[in-house]
Amino acid sequence: MRFHDCVAIVTGGADGIGKEIARKMLTEGATVIISDINVGACEETIKEFQLSGFDAHAMPADVAKKKEVMSVVEKTKEQFGKIDILVNNAGLVRDAKITEMEEEDWDCVVDVCLKGSFLFAKYVAEHMISQEYGKIVNIASRAYLGNPGQANYASAKSGVLGLTKALAKELGKHNINVNAVAPGLIETSALRNHPKFERIKELQKRDSPIKRVGSTEDVANAVLFFASDASSYITGDILHVTGGRFG
Ligand SMILES: NC(=O)c1ccc[n+]([C@@H]2O[C@H](COP(=O)([O-])OP(=O)(O)OC[C@H]3O[C@@H](n4cnc5c(N)ncnc54)[C@H](O)[C@@H]3O)[C@@H](O)[C@H]2O)c1
Repeated sequence: MRFHDCVAIVTGGADGIGKEIARKMLTEGATVIISDINVGACEETIKEFQLSGFDAHAMPADVAKKKEVMSVVEKTKEQFGKIDILVNNAGLVRDAKITEMEEEDWDCVVDVCLKGSFLFAKYVAEHMISQEYGKIVNIASRAYLGNPGQANYASAKSGVLGLTKALAKELGKHNINVNAVAPGLIETSALRNHPKFERIKELQKRDSPIKRVGSTEDVANAVLFFASDASSYITGDILHVTGGRFG
């Protein structure tokens, strides 16, 4: 029970990787607040977790909206008294070749992946500084190395790494660790429903030293390491969960 008595916020936790991170933290004793823009999915997920006897709570919000982020942070502080862990997981893609990428495609991805991580880190950091303790884990992506058709996503996720390193230097003196996990191709329901899922799996097996697609559990294991005191002398670092595939 590594997270007994810990309060964690997981953004984008209603589905996919975030849901698995939340599940693992709950299993290890945490109180978890799931914040997600999808209100229905957020409530469904919380219901599922509560039926398993877990201490899970829904606080829907759009990570790119300052007032909504401030409200989640304030409500968490009021209801639970502290915030030990923040996982900035919410993210999305809007892929297009650069010549066809619309301004909205750029703004949407940068707002959710990068600005959302900034906003949550900013308001959670105020509380973490006052309690002289905290763990912030940002979910980046192997795509920061560059993928065709993902200029917006690659730029946003590179930004997430810059944010991670800057905050690590700024907040270390307050006993706050800030690290990033960079997943490669991970099997979520969105990927399973992709019309070319079988072909994508074959290519991953061909190109990756570890011959499979990653699981949400693979990512959650890395996140829980950074969220725990087992990594207390590590900050500003990136853990790649890519099956050894870089580039
Ligand atoms: N799945 C992969 O292969 C993969 C690889 C590398 C990185 N990632 C990153 O992992 C994270 C989770 O991805 P996933 O594959 O689980 O995606 P997903 O689509 O399954 O889940 C993302 C969740 O974020 C929520 N969300 C989207 N926009 C939001 C907003 N504005 N505010 C709050 N919540 C919002 C969605 O409602 C959803 O529940 C993302 O940051 C993604 O970029 C995923």
